[in-house]
Amino acid sequence: MTIILGIESSCDETGVGLVRLDGDGRLELLADEVASSVEQHARFGGVVPEVASRAHLEAMVPTMRRAFEVAGLKLSDVDAIAVTSGPGLAGALLVGVSAAKAYALSLGVPLYGANHLAGHVAADTLEHGPLPSPCLALLVSGGHSQLLRVDDLATRVTEIGSTIDDAAGEAYDKVARVLGLPYPGGPPIDRAAQRGNPRAIAFPRGLTGPRDAEYDFSFSGLKTAVARWVEARERDGEEVPLDDVAASFQEAVADVLTAKAVRAAERFDIGTMVVSGGVAANSRIKALAAERCAAAGITLRVPKPRLCTDNGAMVAALGAHLVAAGVEPSSLDLSATPGLPVSTVSV
Ligand code: KG4
Ligand code: ZN
Repeated sequence: MTIILGIESSCDETGVGLVRLDGDGRLELLADEVASSVEQHARFGGVVPEVASRAHLEAMVPTMRRAFEVAGLKLSDVDAIAVTSGPGLAGALLVGVSAAKAYALSLGVPLYGANHLAGHVAADTLEHGPLPSPCLALLVSGGHSQLLRVDDLATRVTEIGSTIDDAAGEAYDKVARVLGLPYPGGPPIDRAAQRGNPRAIAFPRGLTGPRDAEYDFSFSGLKTAVARWVEARERDGEEVPLDDVAASFQEAVADVLTAKAVRAAERFDIGTMVVSGGVAANSRIKALAAERCAAAGITLRVPKPRLCTDNGAMVAALGAHLVAAGVEPSSLDLSATPGLPVSTVSV
């Protein structure tokens, strides 16, 4: 039995997770404590890196204490530490990496610099057990929109496609701003969309033309189309039908994400799809993914929203997979790598 401590600080969430790995490779979640600085960024309409770093510094030790309290464990119970070393904001990552190094050195336990994106996929194993190999991961958050082929969560993750401009969550946040809705924009747009007509406005589906990259995404054109549509209405002195705009925008995002993910699963003959990241909490994306996966005979796995957004438990889970696979730990001169490629699961 092994206790793994996971530390996350790549964006605006300070996360500390504790996971128990048993002899059969099964994981048990013991604690998942998160401190968010999202409210400090709200008036800027997006994450301010310097504010995020400072908030991590303030939250790290209290969040750590809470996690150990919830799990009923002591620091000396920890057998290994995993920390997000990338991708993410440099200053924010550094806080977690520095803390993890200090704990690893003082406790004399192995340290794993872990990839945040593989962590999002690992989160699902806490809820639904081991992943079949291969599986397809659709990762949609404020910073990323990616399609990944996962042959082995600890060692073999390959990118099939990614966004060439805005991430899906970023598009939600920017469209929310255009509509006068608060940041982060995903939840209020999702709510408004449920009252609107998804077929009211035909917004463009990015990169779905015959000559476009099959598995890449683009949301920047969609975001601009929504802004132009709203501006034109306002210029004409007409009321903006907020619910219909939200529903039509959401339909375009959900349509493109799920169509490309299902097409990739079929093309590569992959029978299981995992959808994770903050945007995976979206009601329409979940419903359309369920509908299209069922029609294609694909098993769909979506972790509960708490595990979809950034947290330390997902990093601890990935750490457990690294320990179980016998992956070499990182050295203590581990540094933060803001642009860490998804294929580098641990550094
Ligand atoms: O994974 P996450 O917590 O942090 C990042 O790594 O970015 O994702 C945050 C993103 C934000 O852009 C937020 O607007 C979006 O997830 N989001 C949603 C929903 N809930 C959160 N987007 C669409 N629908 C939702 N229900
Ligand atoms: Zn994330």
